[in-house]
Parts: sequence; C-alpha cells; structure tokens
Amino acid sequence: MNRVTIDLPELTEDLYNDVRLYLGEMHQAVASHSIEVAICARQLAKRFNDDQRAAEIGGLLHDISAVIPNERRVELAELLEINVLSEERKLPMIIHQKLSKYMAKELFRIKDESILSAIECHTTLKRDFYQLDMIVFLADKIKWDHSGEPPYLEELLTALDISLEKASLIYLDYLFNSEPAVIHPWAKEAQEKLRNITN
Ligand SMILES: [Fe+2]
Ligand SMILES: [Fe+2]
Repeated sequence: MNRVTIDLPELTEDLYNDVRLYLGEMHQAVASHSIEVAICARQLAKRFNDDQRAAEIGGLLHDISAVIPNERRVELAELLEINVLSEERKLPMIIHQKLSKYMAKELFRIKDESILSAIECHTTLKRDFYQLDMIVFLADKIKWDHSGEPPYLEELLTALDISLEKASLIYLDYLFNSEPAVIHPWAKEAQEKLRNITN
C-alpha cells in the first residue's frame, strides 16, 4: 500500500492566497467555495458579535483536506490516530472535517481552539457547540459547494433573523428529512440540543 503523503503549505501573511495556492489548480472549486465561506463567516461574526478573523480563518481552512482523496481518508485518519466513527467509515467524506482540523493545526499552525473546533464540526455541528461553530457551519451551508441555490436557503436566512440556533436547526432538520446516507451522531446530538434550546 502506498503511503499517504501531504504536501506542506507555504505560509505567508496572506492566508487567502496560501489556501488558493495550496489547493492548486485541481481544487480551484474548493478554493472558491472556501473563500466564499470565509467572507460569509466573517459577516456572520460581525452580525453576531463574534471574532471576525477567527470566523474568516475557519472558513478558509474548513475544507483544506480536499487534497486528500476520499478513498485514502479513513486510512490517513487512522495513521494520525484520529477517532473514526462507524458512520464515517461508511461515508468517508464526513471525516474531511476532522482531517481539515488536523491540517489547520499541524500544517497551517492554527492554535486557536475555537477555530479548530469550528473546522472540526463544520459538516455536522456537535452537541456542545460554541457560537463560532455555528457561524462556520452556517456559512458553509449558505455558500454551499453545489450549483444553484440550496433548497433550505430562504428558510434558513429567515431563521437567522431570529438566531444562529434557529438557523442551524433549519439546516439539520432539512438534512434528516432528506434521507442522508448515514446518521452522524454529532449531527443528531446537535439537532436534539437545538430543539431543546430553541423551544
Ligand atoms: Fe466541508
Ligand atoms: Fe465546505
């Protein structure tokens, strides 16, 4: 079996450019998506009085593990001693959030735990989330990486006028109503908690 190798990023003062260069030609769509998410996360942080730079960095790096092919994700996560859940084994795409956290910390030298947390749960959210987790999570859903407008967008944006919690619940309800390939426990726990605190 070939070893999984990860290139080291060249770090400058400009993280936007570093991310674009690191993702390279092959992952330009991910780079564009990451930049849109970063800008959106920054705006949400401003609106909800959170750390704008932290939100922006979370957005820029949330999908940085796109450089790792899907079929190598489980193997790499195990090599890095990342806890792989059975749901993630079944749908390795979901581990990209944990691998992105690892890469943000070890390769992009991000030390702020709140940024690392937001990257780690940007796909699923988690039970004990912070506000910044919801900000990066929602920015990723508002600026989704598919074509066209997300089917939940209008309802999510309306809920955002009430709270980040209401908006996060709109997305998770949409997710579970659309028969996902796996039920990730972090998403389920986040949904339950959001239901309790928004009622
Ligand atoms: Fe992602
Ligand atoms: Fe994303």
